[in-house]
Amino acid sequence: MERKKITVPCIRRMKTRGERIAALTAYDYPTARLLDSAGVEILLVGDSLGMVVLGYENTLAVTMGDMIHHTRAVARAKPRALIVVDMPFMSFQVDPTDAVRNAGRLVQEGGAEAVKLEGGTRTAPMVEAIVRAGIPVMGHVGLTPQSIHRMGGYRVQGREPAARERVIEGARALEAAGCFAVVLEGIPPDLAAAVTSAVGIPTIGIGAGPECDGQVLVIHDLLGVYEEFAPKFVKRYETLGERIRGAAERYVTEVRSGEFPGPEHCYGDEKRGGKAQKG
Ligand code: KIV
Repeated sequence: MERKKITVPCIRRMKTRGERIAALTAYDYPTARLLDSAGVEILLVGDSLGMVVLGYENTLAVTMGDMIHHTRAVARAKPRALIVVDMPFMSFQVDPTDAVRNAGRLVQEGGAEAVKLEGGTRTAPMVEAIVRAGIPVMGHVGLTPQSIHRMGGYRVQGREPAARERVIEGARALEAAGCFAVVLEGIPPDLAAAVTSAVGIPTIGIGAGPECDGQVLVIHDLLGVYEEFAPKFVKRYETLGERIRGAAERYVTEVRSGEFPGPEHCYGDEKRGGKAQKG
């Protein structure tokens, strides 16, 4: 039986019902299909794309063109999950008009079903304008990677009382501006719990402990493909990096020794009904 499409109202309802939300990032068609069939509620085309797929040092170089290109690939999977797409650095910070235009491009050209913006109180006017244009928005407070230079690195946020208050106020401002959910990244678990009870919208945690309404991870971290760096909050469910390297090493060895391709990989044996196949 085909399961029903996940929509923004479904995500909101999950908080009311006390059901936890599972979100993962995806940047391409096959991964989107696999994760969708695993049952995640949200596929996030994150600007983490810049680091885990495009090889940049941080997320700042990611462009609207990059986000649209990868969102299209995810949208072609026609997932049941809600497709949420990050607005890249400088695509929304200048003014609300610019923000609405770029959010519109992610929906119209990419196939986004909602967009995500980093930042709290200062981002609220952009959120309000985008929501007014009919596009659902997810907020993102705490450790916001697009502000890496202001933060002085990827540091846990909200440890001091004033910073703690800023995170709570930011989440409240985003809710008032119309966000349907908010990501809490890199904050102490007790602060995440405080935000989760201070707002009526679902909180999706990453490095924010268990007291959020849902969790999100970068798929390359979960699979152990991105080996450069693993923050404390990452749980590696697989070590695919090692397995991919191992498979490629075996291939190299077999090509060099002549073991691959074997007779079973060759065309021309009509008696065996050998037919050309795609791929
Ligand atoms: O870019 C991203 O993948 C994100 C998640 C880590 C929340 O923003």
